Amino acid sequence: MPIRRFADPPALFQAAAERVSERLQAAIDARGQASLALAGGSTPRGLYQQLAQLPTAQAPDWHRVAFYFGDERAVPPDHPDANYRMAHENLLGPLKIPPAQVHRIEAERPQQEVEAHYRQRLAQLPQQDGWPCLDLILLGMGDDGHTASLFPGSALLAERQASFIGAEVPGRGLRYSLTLPVLNHARQLMLLVSGKEKADTVARAQQEPGAQLPVQQLNTTHLEWYLDQAAAAHLKPEASP
Ligand code: 6PG
Repeated sequence: MPIRRFADPPALFQAAAERVSERLQAAIDARGQASLALAGGSTPRGLYQQLAQLPTAQAPDWHRVAFYFGDERAVPPDHPDANYRMAHENLLGPLKIPPAQVHRIEAERPQQEVEAHYRQRLAQLPQQDGWPCLDLILLGMGDDGHTASLFPGSALLAERQASFIGAEVPGRGLRYSLTLPVLNHARQLMLLVSGKEKADTVARAQQEPGAQLPVQQLNTTHLEWYLDQAAAAHLKPEASP
């Protein structure tokens, strides 16, 4: 499970943008197309801005990338809290990605319609062991160790049958998320964490196997951590090579 550390957020986002581009183009070269699930929250904003600014020679063939979302809040797409809005403002809009390439979680609809619609969209992806197989899923982490909307103790985290569900999360309202089996069937997971307020949780996730943090349930064989120095501050020094 590689842990990549960078001096500051700009360095983190530049390196992550290069890695995202590399992985997407590899998928396009291998299979003619790529599927990418975007993370929400605030951390990815800098990554999306870097991706949108990649010179053509360093960018993937964006026309062959299908965009999905790891999770969404139960708000309209133009709501300030909508993960879709942040992604559109910083990535999809600047790149002029056609709507046909964007699989938005239509979280403003009734819950059963949202769940049925997105499960159907995910079912159109290549499948592995009966699960949708995304080429790359971008993730963030909360200070409670949640990722996507897989919050500790939530029905979202516990779900093992459906690919996508919505559930009420105490203090957060209704949330929609890809479920853990879908995250763990992706070809690649990139977990981006920035800021000193996450340092304790990063250290627990890496150094306390019994911490029972949702991020600790991610498939480590496909997972890369991208950290700035502030988020990595409480990790034990890297073992000398
Ligand atoms: C969301 C995200 C969530 C996010 C973490 C970290 O919808 O909020 O999917 O999992 O990645 O909460 O959020 P920040 O990047 O804002 O710290």
